[in-house]
Amino acid sequence: MHFRNVISRTNFLYRLNENNKLEVNYVYTSSRRTGNDPYGKKRIISGLSLASLHAGTVTALVGPNAAGKSTLLRAMSGLLPATGSMLLGESDLMQMELKKRASHLTFMPQSIPQDVSLSVIEAVISALKASPLDGLNVKNSEVYDIALKTLNRIGIADLALSPLNQLSGGQRQMASLARSVVREPKVLLLDEPTSALDLKHQVQVMELTSALAREGRIVVVVLHDLNLAMRWADQILVMQKGQITSSGAPEEAITPQIIKEVYHVNVRVERCSQGQPQVIIDGM
Ligand SMILES: Nc1ncnc2c1ncn2[C@@H]1O[C@H](COP(=O)(O)OP(=O)(O)OP(=O)(O)O)[C@@H](O)[C@H]1O
Ligand SMILES: [Mg+2]
Repeated sequence: MHFRNVISRTNFLYRLNENNKLEVNYVYTSSRRTGNDPYGKKRIISGLSLASLHAGTVTALVGPNAAGKSTLLRAMSGLLPATGSMLLGESDLMQMELKKRASHLTFMPQSIPQDVSLSVIEAVISALKASPLDGLNVKNSEVYDIALKTLNRIGIADLALSPLNQLSGGQRQMASLARSVVREPKVLLLDEPTSALDLKHQVQVMELTSALAREGRIVVVVLHDLNLAMRWADQILVMQKGQITSSGAPEEAITPQIIKEVYHVNVRVERCSQGQPQVIIDGM
């Protein structure tokens, strides 16, 4: 395996264009497929529409447990049956078959299987090859270099040959992130990518998220840490009971009133000595 001569992939970067946006409208989904009713009995999301998600921006999706955040991202990525439209330019991603959709959009799941014995680099290569490579203009001989370049970017090249089932929870989360970014998709959906990470790795992942967006991608990231969301996101969507309760720039979307309504917790939102808005928890 040659880890040298890592190729430049600048030709895959999407130019930032104000008109590049994702419009998600009227999404209905349920938890799983059952019987004759393709959407099952339990409707999780009903007629949800999102504010336009623009290329070059990070959107944080926050909300309490069971609000429907993972369900929404899974529906967007095609892992759950859903109706509605999801327009990226002229294309409706919702109508695309899974493999084609995966060439535009990738999803990093919240929970990562622990029993996979592939090495980290093999797992990243398998994600790269998961849908046709033609759209990416990648030759088979280049896949190792591309996978290694991604591991370097994420800062885990030293784990390349480690089996996934021998990694710590945080290391496995970083490897999962590598799998979702290796294709350099236009739309990146990350479900709690920082939940298992120490402080330094949280900052590293949020910086990477921001850099990936600035290259012209649309990034949606589910976070429970409201301060991480306020610090790093361009806009925040607050989800509750399958609907968006509040959205906008961080200080518009996150107010003491909204947090009280959604989480039943008393907070203040105040600026720190450097002017950054902070959520301070006062209690229930
Ligand atoms: N496979 C499933 N089968 C049945 N119900 C499910 C399934 N997955 C999720 N649900 C239900 O869908 C609802 C939304 O769950 P979802 O996982 O989307 O929440 P979430 O906002 O991601 O929560 P968390 O912050 O805990 O990850 C919950 O009521 C949950 O019980
Ligand atoms: Mg979830």
